[in-house]
Amino acid sequence: MRIGFFDSGIGGMTVLHQALQLLPNDDYIFYADTLHVPYGEKTKEEVRKYIFDAVDFMANQGIKALVIACNTATSIAVDDLRQKYDFPILGIEPAVKPAVQSCEKKRKKVLVFATNLTLREEKFHNLVKSIDHHDIVNSLPLPGLVQFAEDFEFRDEKVVPYLIENLSTFDLKQYGTVVLGCTHFPYFEKIIRGIFPKEVDIISGSVGTAKNLKRILEARNQMNDGTGDILFYKSGYRVEDKETLSNYKKLLEMLDRINLKIGV
Ligand code: DGL
Repeated sequence: MRIGFFDSGIGGMTVLHQALQLLPNDDYIFYADTLHVPYGEKTKEEVRKYIFDAVDFMANQGIKALVIACNTATSIAVDDLRQKYDFPILGIEPAVKPAVQSCEKKRKKVLVFATNLTLREEKFHNLVKSIDHHDIVNSLPLPGLVQFAEDFEFRDEKVVPYLIENLSTFDLKQYGTVVLGCTHFPYFEKIIRGIFPKEVDIISGSVGTAKNLKRILEARNQMNDGTGDILFYKSGYRVEDKETLSNYKKLLEMLDRINLKIGV
């Protein structure tokens, strides 16, 4: 059976890419809810309905595990989804814990980039409250990066001015780690790296999520029943046109050149 990956858009591919490194002999369904992206700018109630529709669809295809490759969807629905389905469901959260541990040692601060909805959610506030005892975690919503990624817009001349403007009130020297708390953001890792001092670590939860997926499938003896084949879906429709499929392939190749750290 296939492993399901779900996101509001192409961000989830940054997590799928990590999984393909660890589980190359499995098959995948990648579902992007492109009709409703961006989730981060909608209400919790609206997004919850879209998530359940998408996961129902994937469950009907038959999947052996599901990765909610979206920080926003994880914070809204992962607990409720686990109540409803009996296959393992993994989520992704902003990697605040390893960032705080490393920055406390370096006497630096942590900057979390995520969507507006993720940053508003109780799950994020509880996470920060439980770890950030010295008040070193700051956060910034960057919805523009979600839109750039969906538009396949990765050029410096478009993205750099947006980031510079949004970061204009931050003293970048204070930060030791930037947490990419939205799965659309790793596409911009190189650009972000170019804006911050070079010793800053840039991390995302995707590496940890892929490792957990492998651990779970190993424990259930459900690994290695495929060939790395991926079926792509957009909001309930199979993607078959050659141009979109070739763009997806290019995104996965682009991610080969990005090196995200976890637990630095
Ligand atoms: N990729 C998603 C995340 O990780 C959300 C982007 C959006 O739809 O706003 O949060």
